[in-house]
Amino acid sequence: MKKAPEQILIVDDNTDTLQMLSRKIVSKGWSSLLATDVSQALQLLDAGGIDLVLTDYKMPKITGLELIRHLNSHYPNIPVIMITGYPSIEGAVEAVKVGAEEYLSKPFTDEELFKAIDAAIVKVRQRKTRTQEIPTNPYGLIGNSEQMQELYRKIHKSTTNNATVLIHGESGTGKELVARAIHYHSHHSKAPFVPVNCGAIPETLLEAELFGYLKGSFTGANETRAGYFLTADGGSIFLDEISETSLSMQVKLLRVLQDRQVYMIGSKTPRKVNVRIIAATNKDLPLLVKQGGFRDDLFFRLNVLPIYIPPLREHPEDISMLINHFLKKYSSENSLPIPSISDDTINSMLTYTWPGNVRELENLIYRMVILCEGQQIGISDLPEHMKFSINQTPNLLRSLAEVEQEYISAVLASVNDNKSLAANILGIDRKTLYNKLKDFEN
Ligand SMILES: Nc1ncnc2c1ncn2[C@@H]1O[C@H](COP(=O)(O)OP(=O)(O)OP(=O)(O)O)[C@@H](O)[C@H]1O
Ligand SMILES: [Mg+2]
Repeated sequence: MKKAPEQILIVDDNTDTLQMLSRKIVSKGWSSLLATDVSQALQLLDAGGIDLVLTDYKMPKITGLELIRHLNSHYPNIPVIMITGYPSIEGAVEAVKVGAEEYLSKPFTDEELFKAIDAAIVKVRQRKTRTQEIPTNPYGLIGNSEQMQELYRKIHKSTTNNATVLIHGESGTGKELVARAIHYHSHHSKAPFVPVNCGAIPETLLEAELFGYLKGSFTGANETRAGYFLTADGGSIFLDEISETSLSMQVKLLRVLQDRQVYMIGSKTPRKVNVRIIAATNKDLPLLVKQGGFRDDLFFRLNVLPIYIPPLREHPEDISMLINHFLKKYSSENSLPIPSISDDTINSMLTYTWPGNVRELENLIYRMVILCEGQQIGISDLPEHMKFSINQTPNLLRSLAEVEQEYISAVLASVNDNKSLAANILGIDRKTLYNKLKDFEN
């Protein structure tokens, strides 16, 4: 689930410098590809996957400036850091003029190098966020994972018939959003969608609210009122938190479901209602049925088309898309620039378990957009309880041999399997490297 590290292409005619830079970059968790001249760099760029280029200015055949020009016209989304060999203001100005994002003049400290890379990576992020298309589905829900696709199939199925739907999902997973999606895509969409929070209305009032009453049928009934069922006639009623209804109310609901008619309080004449019923719960209804808290006959009547919405921790692959969606949404609603988010902050969002699901994530992004006003969002902007998922200790249950094999493979991958270069970076000779690789195969 962890995001792939940024791939940095380093271009320098001096192999010692190349290796030195590569070691530093790899030590910070980025991955590197190395080229000793511009034409080699262009080949690597063509192969794709490069996020950032770090190039020397002065090179024998084609200079770094030419490389920057090429990048500008062919890969406008890849930022460049230019290294100027001597503290030449002209060189730096020229580099920036042709489009380098940052420049470093030799000699520079590790800190200056990492700072320049960090700054350029922020730009990579911003460009990616800006250009990344956010795929939505026809229902306005965000998420492309297999679990969400399954949800969309279920929603689609329920829009083509009139069966009662029971939506089950943890708090904040989008139950109401799904209920609305079903209504507005079904043939009931022209008539009202009426949401009723069964948990929020006191038991004594619920009956009057749902079925309506005739004037004078009880003290306080000063006028005749249609209840939610009649209001929703021709449309859909959304019975949210259905598990919160009392057993006696469940009997009354069962009658409506069976007979498709309601008795207003104070009336002996039933009124026909043509209503699509969508119920929702965050409770385990079958368990409640077993424990006697929910009638099994009502459960079976409701559960004709069950729809399960997975909690966010079951489809973490959708987290990035949701983050981008809400960043865009709240930035544009508040006329603020879309902020970028630092790597470690994104990582901790990807590994967090989101007990409050999409609502929790949405609220967090909203707060961040407002508080950061376009500045980069960092770890310090996360609430305390989320910071636990940061800086997870590395897996300490690996042997030295395993760590060595992993590290060697990573270095080899970073130099396109060039054994001499890899051996150089690793500080061993080629023969030793070959022997080690042979050992790994056994
Ligand atoms: N897949 C999604 N894509 C975009 N927004 C979503 C998605 N799922 C949920 N949301 C947003 O998250 C918030 C919570 O959604 P909703 O109110 O539908 O959840 P719920 O399951 O009904 O929660 P509760 O159980 O607390 O009532 C809403 O602002 C909704 O727009
Ligand atoms: Mg809800």
